[in-house]
Amino acid sequence: MKILVCGDIDDAERARWRMCLEQAGPEFVWLTPDDPALDRTSVDAAVVANPPPGSLAGCPRLRLIQSLWAGVDRLLADTTLPEGVPVARMVDPVMTIAMGETALWAVLSLHRGYFDYQRQQRSALWLQHAQRRADEVPVLVLGHGQMGRAVAETLARRGYPVHAWRLRASGAAHAPGAAVTVVQGREGLTEAMRQALILINLLPLTAQTRGLLDARFYARLPAGASIVNLARGGHVVEADLLDALDAGHLHHAVLDVFQSEPLPSEHPFWTHPAVTVLPHAAALTDPRSAAAVAVANLRALRSGEPLQHVVERARGY
Ligand code: GLV
Repeated sequence: MKILVCGDIDDAERARWRMCLEQAGPEFVWLTPDDPALDRTSVDAAVVANPPPGSLAGCPRLRLIQSLWAGVDRLLADTTLPEGVPVARMVDPVMTIAMGETALWAVLSLHRGYFDYQRQQRSALWLQHAQRRADEVPVLVLGHGQMGRAVAETLARRGYPVHAWRLRASGAAHAPGAAVTVVQGREGLTEAMRQALILINLLPLTAQTRGLLDARFYARLPAGASIVNLARGGHVVEADLLDALDAGHLHHAVLDVFQSEPLPSEHPFWTHPAVTVLPHAAALTDPRSAAAVAVANLRALRSGEPLQHVVERARGY
């Protein structure tokens, strides 16, 4: 089988991916767009990292588009993406663990006031704040997919009272960690928001969730709440977030993702005292583990077995 590897990545990264993919799946023929041997009419599948729009046009034999990214919003926005070809997103346990670690770091830092102490240090201010127990800091996780579930369970195990919100009301029985309360639909969200001191966003970016975190949303959180956005910049109305922080209604924002990336150097988030900026690094795809996940799906394709983590294109995730 011939596999096209392409994406919005530099040459060194593409070479690293190709090496890891070749190691994980030596039985496949791996090709990159610059490869003289590439004949698009014979490509069977593509392994992609947000490729420039149009990258998969002219591949009539394509039977699988395997994303190296967990979120497929940018990929699905490509209107030239061949119709009817399954798109699978990356679900890699290594990445899920990394996301749990980042979320735990953010929650511990907010709970124990480390961002405040960091600010105080800049002006040599010696001032202790009241110490709360973890069970006094309710956390709400938006999203209850692979990442949301793992994050909610990690935090619950640390003693935080955790609600996790699932966008779609679904009757499916779940067996979350004992301390995670799963809420559904808009009503469930409103109720859980009333008490959340820390809100972590892990939703997929879809037409339904774009701009969800706006002024009305922030107003429904209790005064002094903080937000952690580890999903997509498109979820956050940035001007509204700045207003809520400036008004003192929200205490702090930890932001890994932005409307425009890289975050422009003149953006107020960079210097805002109540904002911590990360460069979209909460959970990077690790080529060593992700290559094996991609190859497992290619092998399933070859042997006619069910493909894993195929997204519903119309739903957006
Ligand atoms: C990162 O944001 C990803 O979607 O993999």
